[in-house]
Order: sequence, then C-alpha cells, then structure tokens
Amino acid sequence: MTPAENAAHFRQRVEEIKAVYPDSRSAIMGALHLAQREHGGWLPPEALEEVAEAMELTPAYVQSVASFYDMYQLEPVGRHTVEVCTNLSCALAGAQSVVDAFEQELGVRAGETTEDGAVTFRIVECAGGCGSAPVVVVDHRYREPVRAEDVQEIVEELRG
Ligand code: FES
Repeated sequence: MTPAENAAHFRQRVEEIKAVYPDSRSAIMGALHLAQREHGGWLPPEALEEVAEAMELTPAYVQSVASFYDMYQLEPVGRHTVEVCTNLSCALAGAQSVVDAFEQELGVRAGETTEDGAVTFRIVECAGGCGSAPVVVVDHRYREPVRAEDVQEIVEELRG
C-alpha cells in the first residue's frame, strides 16, 4: 500500500471504531491502540498526528491521552515488553524484588530496552490483577503471581 492508501485505510478503521460509541471522542483509546499496533508497538509523533486527524481532535489532546495511560508507548519498544506492577498490592507482595531480578537478568533499568532490542522493561501502575500479586505483564499477557526466582526462566523464554 502507498502511504496515501495506508492513511485512508487507517481513517476508515478509525471511523469503524467511532461508529461503536455514542460519543465519537470515546474512540480515541481504540484509535491509539490501532496506531500503536501499526507503528511497531509505539506512538511516534506522526502516529499521534494521524490519530488527531482521524479523530478530528488536536494533536495536543491526543498526546495528553496517550501520555496519561501506561499502555501507550511514546518511545520505541523492544520486540518483547515486560511490565511489573509496583502499586500497593504488588508492592506488599514483593514486587520490588521482582523488579530487581529483572534489572539484573536483563542488564537494564526500568524504562530501558536491552541493547539487542529484545526486551523493553517497565514499571507500571496497577495492572488490575491485585488479587494475584505481584503481577508481571509479558507481551500483554499476565503472569501472576511472579516471584524473583521465576524471572530467569521468563527472560530465557523471551530470548528464545
Ligand atoms: S497493585 Fe499490582 S495489579 Fe493491582
């Protein structure tokens, strides 16, 4: 597809998402998900502009929504993402030791991507799995509960 065809296709898909909601602005979350998927897992400035245009909103508004939620990435990400929740339930269940183990095993700090581009490691706010804390989200799938001693196996699995 040419860039113009891609843009038209994107606008059409956003129109379909908008049609689901009584207030079309509510489609912004779906439009951001779509744009993120089409831009390799993150939202570069041009993706935010595409969403703004398709949603008939300002780029500043779209940026404010994208920067508020943890599930939207405003920086490039690795081929895999590992996210550890460190909110209260997970913190009480030992999330920090899980964070420490991932940092050790991956050789990066939270918020960074491994040098080989394999894994982006992040700390996130409550992932909604508080009853099985601590929660780790690997490539958008929950692992719960995860202990520090499980981390090596998860990283080996990701590095294949
Ligand atoms: S506090 Fe970690 S999932 Fe809710």
